[in-house]
Amino acid sequence: MPQFTRTLVTTALPYANGPVHLGHLAGVYLPADMYVRYKRLKGEDVIHIGGSDEHGVPITITAEKEGVSPRDVVDRYHRMNLDSFSKCGISFDYYGRTTSEVHHKTAQEFFLEIWQKGIFQQKTEKLFFDRKANRFLSDRYVTGSCPICNNPEANGDQCEQCGTHLSPLELINPKSKLSDATPELRETMHWYFPLGRFQEQLEGYVKSHEEEWRSNVVNYTRTWLKQGLQDRAITRDLNWGIRVPLDSADAAGKVLYVWFDAVLGYISFTKEWAEQQGESERWKTYWQDPGSRLVHFIGKDNVVFHTLMFPAILMAWNEGRQSGCYNLADNVPASEFMNFEGRKFSKSRNYAVYLGEFLEKFPADALRYSIAMNYPENKDSDFSWQDFQNRTNGELADTLGNFIKRSVDFTNARFDGQVPCDSTPEEWVALGIDWPHILDRLDEAYEEFHFRDAASLGMEIARAANRFLTVSEPWKVIKIDGEAAARTMAISLNLCHALAIVLFPVIPETCNRIYAMLGFEGRIEDRVIPGTPLFSQLLYPVLKKGHRLRATSEILFTKIENSAIAPELEKIAALLVDAEKREAGAEQSRMEFKPVISFDDFLKVDLRVAKVIAAETVKKAAKLLKLQLQVGSVTKQVLAGIAKYYTPEEMIGKNVVIVANLAERTIRDELSEGMILAVEGEDGKLFVIEPSGNEINGKQIQ
Ligand code: MF3
Ligand code: ZN
Repeated sequence: MPQFTRTLVTTALPYANGPVHLGHLAGVYLPADMYVRYKRLKGEDVIHIGGSDEHGVPITITAEKEGVSPRDVVDRYHRMNLDSFSKCGISFDYYGRTTSEVHHKTAQEFFLEIWQKGIFQQKTEKLFFDRKANRFLSDRYVTGSCPICNNPEANGDQCEQCGTHLSPLELINPKSKLSDATPELRETMHWYFPLGRFQEQLEGYVKSHEEEWRSNVVNYTRTWLKQGLQDRAITRDLNWGIRVPLDSADAAGKVLYVWFDAVLGYISFTKEWAEQQGESERWKTYWQDPGSRLVHFIGKDNVVFHTLMFPAILMAWNEGRQSGCYNLADNVPASEFMNFEGRKFSKSRNYAVYLGEFLEKFPADALRYSIAMNYPENKDSDFSWQDFQNRTNGELADTLGNFIKRSVDFTNARFDGQVPCDSTPEEWVALGIDWPHILDRLDEAYEEFHFRDAASLGMEIARAANRFLTVSEPWKVIKIDGEAAARTMAISLNLCHALAIVLFPVIPETCNRIYAMLGFEGRIEDRVIPGTPLFSQLLYPVLKKGHRLRATSEILFTKIENSAIAPELEKIAALLVDAEKREAGAEQSRMEFKPVISFDDFLKVDLRVAKVIAAETVKKAAKLLKLQLQVGSVTKQVLAGIAKYYTPEEMIGKNVVIVANLAERTIRDELSEGMILAVEGEDGKLFVIEPSGNEINGKQIQ
């Protein structure tokens, strides 16, 4: 393990196309903030770089819908998100924007460097073009029927019903989502990044980190590597984005693909940060000094962009260079998702709680704590109002807040606001609080990204402290043994101080309030001297005999009343009713029959009884079964999207109905010479239609 002296932390750049919600906070920004705050407390050199992702197709579509410019859209959401983050105490060292000049220059420089090395490929392809909207359609803006399950609303990249990954060209009756027009195929040229060229290098890179990366990160990445890395187009036909920096005619109207540009934002923003610090070259230490460690906080949907694409771009830049080489990420702590009241956050369905809105009603630290305790580390987690209320009232108010206030108030009332005596480490061990051990556990929790453990550990100490004070009963004891009561208070006050430090990464604002109540000037973060592990210095025994507290105490957390969360629960109930209605509506619309056809039309369909004589799974398509059917004297191969519901063994021997004269199709490089009939039942499960009778094989159904 190399010894790193500094750390560059980046957080995924949220699209400036909507407000960030609690799911984003839970997966990326809060964990990153806790991590950098912890490292700062340790006196380490760490910076946190983030910003807005301001390019990409969806932003242009929002702008068109609203009749404003893309610039207006990104200005609005950049400001809004930055404001929400700062209210939530997310301590960025720099929060940039991908529309900045520095970023455009940086991204173009990368393009040119790699282009000059001849690494990109140019390819002409036919893509869907919407004439009404006058633009090429990216995969997710094409919809149509799924070739596997017939879902009429499959997307150009994936069918949500059967889960099959699709290309828009595979859709039956494709339509543009922008205008409803039937798109036409048009030729267009793009530059491609040959990811496959870096396959071996990337495999080596991933292998060297396999031990320490999270298993979800390794798994997603391995799956991609196993399939073999494909060329990826890194330009688009669009007028919003970073222009392809070439003078040739074929570069006209082309911009860099948003993902190619966004990841480079991390670099651009570090440059802007350095400039702001008045040390314009300092960004290089963070990116290019091998003693610097790079850590990307992201959500699970961004894994391969950070473990394969971005590293490959940097490898391409580094290739053949003596100097100015970039470090690759040392770790990529990707989170799972945090759901909200048992369902996925969904921007399009408006099923979300936005960070800005939330903070207008409830304090940031209550949210930070609740979310830290629900950090989706290895599996999806859930945020519920009930849990938020319970944690705030029980853990923050009754345990932590109560302990601090009782300690400060009693000292102010009975000991003239001064720490009455010194206390010794041995007294703490007797309480079961073993600092060296706790610090080790805390360090491990943070350094290995176990944020729930880190937050829980703080609360564990608060619980032990609160219990100690309650059981010691200094308010009674003082009447008979003043010295014993004084000792209790000296221990308690030092525990207050320790809690302020230990919980600082989780609830920084509260900890600074504790700190002020204990009579300290300034903020905790400002007491850290770079290079000294002040974190441990700040711990026990800091408050010596005679140390003066502030004369007034305060309530750290007010309890959240039922009446405060009732409107929120109502809102969710309404959203759920909406969702159910939508589902019921979809059911209804299924009863709208297709347009009338003539009897002759019907006779054109050749339905036959067939028997499944062989069945197997398909390697590259988890949803598909490859069936060999005996249809009278011929055999046909059919691919059916039923692998989720039937094993190959179950299918063998079944009688099925096949559309025998359907045009052949190739799906996943496999020929499909027809289609078998099935009906969708409960929970979307497919049931194959099984005709019964004697001697019916190969016969027509009429
Ligand atoms: N904007 C992307 C998203 O929200 C994430 C970009 S991360 C970066 O999914 F690396 F590209 F910056
Ligand atoms: Zn489908």
